[in-house]
Amino acid sequence: MDTVLRVEDLHKSYPSRWGRPPRVALRGLELEVPRGGVVGLLGPNGAGKTTTLKAVMGLVRPDRGRISLFGSQGSDPRARSRVGFLPEQPYFELYLTPRKILRYYGRLSGMSEESIKARSAHLLNLVGLGEVGDLTMEKFSKGMLQRVGLAQALLAEPELLILDEPSTGLDPLGKIEVRDLLNDLRRSGVTVLLSSHQLSEIEEICDRVAVISEGRNVASGALDELLRSRDEFLVRLAAPPPAGREPDLPPPAAWADDRTGVVVPREALGTVLRRLLDAGLEVEGVGPRRMSLEEFFLERVGRSGGDGK
Ligand SMILES: Nc1ncnc2c1ncn2[C@@H]1O[C@H](COP(=O)(O)OP(=O)(O)OP(=O)(O)O)[C@@H](O)[C@H]1O
Ligand SMILES: [Mg+2]
Repeated sequence: MDTVLRVEDLHKSYPSRWGRPPRVALRGLELEVPRGGVVGLLGPNGAGKTTTLKAVMGLVRPDRGRISLFGSQGSDPRARSRVGFLPEQPYFELYLTPRKILRYYGRLSGMSEESIKARSAHLLNLVGLGEVGDLTMEKFSKGMLQRVGLAQALLAEPELLILDEPSTGLDPLGKIEVRDLLNDLRRSGVTVLLSSHQLSEIEEICDRVAVISEGRNVASGALDELLRSRDEFLVRLAAPPPAGREPDLPPPAAWADDRTGVVVPREALGTVLRRLLDAGLEVEGVGPRRMSLEEFFLERVGRSGGDGK
C-alpha cells in the first residue's frame, strides 16, 4: 500500500495553566492514510482530532511519536508543501477580499502571479464564491468563510488535503456541495484526510476511518470491513412472510424493519434457516450484517465518550 501519511505512537500533553493539571490530548495515536483514499478521523469532542492534524502540519509539537509524509519526515518543508490544510477555525483578516487572501497564500507557496490568478478564479467558482471574490469579508457568514478556507487549502494543488471539520458552519446544501467536491477530488486522485464528529458525513464520504477517543485509537480500517458484523448475519427473503405464516424465531434472532430479512446471531443461523424454509419462505441470500456507523460508534466509543465540550 502506498502510504501518503503515517502517524505512529503520537503523544501530546498541553502544559498546565493557572495551576490546572496538564491536559493529555494524545496517548499513542496511530493513523495511516493510503494514497487516493478519503480517510475520516472520527471522535467525540476533545478526542484529539485537531491536535493530531495540527501535529501533522507542524503547528503543535508532539511529546513523542513519528510522523512521516510522502515517505519523508513530517517536518520536511518539501513534503509539507504538498499538503493543503483547512484549520478548524480558519482565520482571515476580514478587511481583505477572498481574491486577495488567495493571492497572499499563493505568494507564500511560491506560485507565479499568473497561476495564482487562474487558480483563484477557478477555485472561487468551485466553492461558490465566484460573485463575491472581490468583496471584503466583513459581512461574510460562517459558511462563506469556511468556503474561503477550502479554496485556500486547495490553492497549491495539494496531493494531500487535510480538513479539520470541513462542514462546520455550512447549511445542508453547503454540506452536500462539500461532499460532492470531495468526491470530485477523490476522482482526480487527491488524497483526503478529514476530521469530523458527524457520523453521516464520514459514512457518506470516507472509505477508511480511524475512530479515536481520549487520544487513543478505538478502531481503524476500511469502513466496509469495520461495519461488517462478525457475529451477526442477515438472512434475506424474496418477500415478507404472509400474515399468519411467520415462523417463531429463537431469540435474539429478529425480523428486520421491512420484514424481508432476519438478523441472526452466528450460533442460531442453522435453526433459523431451517424454520424459514420449513415455513415455505424463499431465502434469497445470507451475509454478514452491515452495521450503521452510528451503531458501531456507540458500541466502541459509547454515549459517554469525550469531554462533553
Ligand atoms: N491549546 C490547548 N491548551 C490546553 N488544552 C488543549 C489545547 N488544545 C486542546 N486541548 C485539550 O486537548 C484535548 C484534545 O483536544 P482537541 O482539540 O485535539 O480535540 P478534538 O477532537 O479536535 O475536539 P473537537 O471535536 O471539540 O474539535 C481536549 O481535552 C482539549 O481540551
Ligand atoms: Mg477539533
